[in-house]
Amino acid sequence: MPEKVTTRTLSQMKAQGQRIVAITAYDAPSARLADEAGVDVVLVGDSVGNTMLGYETTLPVSLEEILHHLKAVRRGLKRALLVADMPFLTYGVDTADAVYNAGRLMQAGAEAVKVEGATEPILETIRAMVAIGIPVMAHLGLTPQSIHKFGGYRVQGRGAEGKRLLEAARAVQEAGAFAVVLEVIPKTLAQRITESLTIPTIGIGAGPFCDGEIQVWHDILGLSEHRFKHTRAYLNLREQIREALQQYANEVRERLFPTEEQSFE
Ligand code: KIV
Repeated sequence: MPEKVTTRTLSQMKAQGQRIVAITAYDAPSARLADEAGVDVVLVGDSVGNTMLGYETTLPVSLEEILHHLKAVRRGLKRALLVADMPFLTYGVDTADAVYNAGRLMQAGAEAVKVEGATEPILETIRAMVAIGIPVMAHLGLTPQSIHKFGGYRVQGRGAEGKRLLEAARAVQEAGAFAVVLEVIPKTLAQRITESLTIPTIGIGAGPFCDGEIQVWHDILGLSEHRFKHTRAYLNLREQIREALQQYANEVRERLFPTEEQSFE
């Protein structure tokens, strides 16, 4: 098996100009497939709320829900670096609570945690986590936990706001983050940030110039109900699964399944 991916590996990959491949996963078989495909980073994202749990946003996702999916992914994953999202309200309010919550994710098998934003309480939280040995991935741009503040899923960092985002990226690096996700920002801004940081940038809807890319499992496999501009469906699983289920239902109703072949003496 190729060597285990660690936070150090990602830093070396940036230094050597090797692209980092990341994807979300929420269960053991998916994690196993991601490993088999040679993905470098698997994120148990709070996108589990939209993709698996039927929530409209990521806001209702709880620590217990992330822990449940994280433990499943842990059982399926060997090589890729396993990162767990910290859900809304489990950080950014009280630093000691945030460190404790991150610790619970690490005890459940995460090798790093991800937090959104770069306000002072978040920077303090990053510093406190790193101080006790918890690697932190930062997340800037269109951070879904702030969706109501943004007033919808819209591109962040355009115009003068770009400078603020560049400063935020520098601040999370300074606070000790080992990587930063840049979500739905202009590609030239992502390029500027990537060039001015020593830690890797991992884009999603941030163009081709980041050090790596992360995508949501359901989007690239064509399982999502919506098609987003920032993604590409490599399969059309939603359609294929629906057709397979219809065929199964028809064959049961028409007494075409099960047959002798699936029967026992
Ligand atoms: O929750 C998630 O899936 C994420 C990725 C989109 C980066 O945060």
